Amino acid sequence: MQSEFGWIDWPKSFCYSFLMLDIKELSVSFGNFQAVKDVGFSLKRGETLGLLGESGSGKSTVALAIMRLISYPGKIISGKILLDGADLIKLGGEEMRKIRGAKISMIFQDPFSSLNPVFTVGEQIAEAFRYHQGLNRVEAWERSIEMLGTVQIRNPSARIHNYPHQFSGGMRQRVMIAMALACNPEFLIADEPTTALDVTVQAEILKLIADLQNKFKLGVLFITHNFAIIKQICDRVVVMRKGQVMEEGATLEVLNNSRNAYTKNLIESVKVLAGE
Ligand SMILES: Nc1ncnc2c1ncn2[C@@H]1O[C@H](COP(=O)(O)OP(=O)(O)OP(=O)(O)O)[C@@H](O)[C@H]1O
Ligand SMILES: [Mg+2]
Repeated sequence: MQSEFGWIDWPKSFCYSFLMLDIKELSVSFGNFQAVKDVGFSLKRGETLGLLGESGSGKSTVALAIMRLISYPGKIISGKILLDGADLIKLGGEEMRKIRGAKISMIFQDPFSSLNPVFTVGEQIAEAFRYHQGLNRVEAWERSIEMLGTVQIRNPSARIHNYPHQFSGGMRQRVMIAMALACNPEFLIADEPTTALDVTVQAEILKLIADLQNKFKLGVLFITHNFAIIKQICDRVVVMRKGQVMEEGATLEVLNNSRNAYTKNLIESVKVLAGE
């Protein structure tokens, strides 16, 4: 941000407070089954919001609805998904493809099913650069090597020629992050990006997302059922159950002082499992 004093490093909360993803009364059904009911929450650029809830509570469905990737028989039946005031639900396919590239991108729950096994990781990251940022082949390739380095793959100029099966689970997850960032998004949705990984790799990936968020000032919607992760990286948290929002608030407030019976039970059951 420029002022008469030159370039000033304003606090990120001030700089980006006007960029907002605002979800209002969102409902999604799969045939007769309503998976998401009147869900609402908002996310500012530069902020990390945790979306927490038991398996099947509708977290991924909310994420896919934001991306407008709910496929048949699923359908968004009502609500608004406002990005800087414009309703994504009303956009046509082509307009939405542009938003998906330039404004919002997503790291999917399962990296193996999201990476194409017949293309090298380099070809897949480069494709994201070419499609979303309009780079030519040479530029896209150079940026892909750089991006593999950014997500801390060692020796990126050699590893870029590998196929997904030649990478470990943690490395594939990093490739997914690299592809999501190649779109240069303002908002990143991370759907359980660390569940399949062991604890040390999990910690590395979390740190990487936090560092990249800081560097690129991303708004991050982080989906998980892991309280420790929420505590570590999220400013605020939304708790879902059976397709509905149970509670929303500042992370420590919700985790330490929740007045919601469901959240309290969820926290207690995790403490019992963890032997706390
Ligand atoms: N394509 C689909 N067809 C039918 N039902 C679906 C489909 N996708 C999701 N559902 C249903 O919607 C509900 C919410 O699923 P969703 O995947 O959003 O849960 P989740 O909170 O992400 O769970 P998890 O933590 O296990 O990933 C579930 O009951 C699920 O069975
Ligand atoms: Mg899910």
